[in-house]
Amino acid sequence: MLVDMRLAVVGKGGAGKSVIAATLARTLARRGHRVLALDSDPLPGLSLSLGADVPAEPPLLAAAERGENNRWRFIHGVGPVRAIQRYATDAPDGVRLLQIGKVTREGMAPVMAATQAFYMTIHGLGRAATFHDWVILGDLPAGPRQTAFDWAPYAERYVLVVEPTWQSMLTARRITRIARAARAEVEMSLVVNKVAGEQDAPRVADFLDLPVAVAVPVDEGVRSAERAGAALLDHAPDSPVVRAVERLADHLEGSSIH
Ligand SMILES: Nc1ncnc2c1ncn2[C@@H]1O[C@H](COP(=O)(O)OP(=O)(O)OP(=O)(O)O)[C@@H](O)[C@H]1O
Ligand SMILES: [Mg+2]
Repeated sequence: MLVDMRLAVVGKGGAGKSVIAATLARTLARRGHRVLALDSDPLPGLSLSLGADVPAEPPLLAAAERGENNRWRFIHGVGPVRAIQRYATDAPDGVRLLQIGKVTREGMAPVMAATQAFYMTIHGLGRAATFHDWVILGDLPAGPRQTAFDWAPYAERYVLVVEPTWQSMLTARRITRIARAARAEVEMSLVVNKVAGEQDAPRVADFLDLPVAVAVPVDEGVRSAERAGAALLDHAPDSPVVRAVERLADHLEGSSIH
């Protein structure tokens, strides 16, 4: 089994992070990897793209409490490993999914405990021997805000999803700069998504000064899966995006330490 696949999928809003992260998680699980998917977006894109249930209440709500000085802590008997074992849910193809929990009509306040528990869990993950040979794959919310390492401290590689637009490329450049300033040795895999012409992928690669790991074409199957409320892998298993994600999985397996 391969180790060291600790991935955070990042990029501008709407670039296609959740679709690619979800399809990648299930593709790797089908190849025999144990996969822990982390959805830190209160608008639970990853969970929906996986075809997983989004519970009305985040399971992690029960994992944290306020202790002395009003500071958040895990409840007795729970640490990062136990939190995952107890509060992660099953997604298709054997993927285990930890969700931060969705925002309610009342905003973030009611899910504060879940947010805190999620944060403490991802920060304890790096040292957890239990998950040393798992693929850990996080889908971060849009833009650079959550990527300043605080929300992906486990990540050894960023999967940078970029559309061939100025806005998307500029955001991607900002993310790479922030990431490298925080930790110089972080690896980058560039995914150019919604490619429509031959020049799209090289243009993005040039701009970011990164090689293209995979170019993903614009694909009607993605929208049609969304309209059907189904995961792309279930709705259109032979679609070009699914095939491109297979190549991304090859690239990641080839880049990780055996
Ligand atoms: N290759 C593709 N071809 C066509 N449409 C795509 C493709 N990839 C993504 N999309 C569409 O782009 C939109 C955004 O996709 P997705 O939700 O995965 O992006 P995201 O980066 O996770 O967005 P957010 O930042 O809002 O979480 C969706 O409507 C999806 O259908
Ligand atoms: Mg998303």
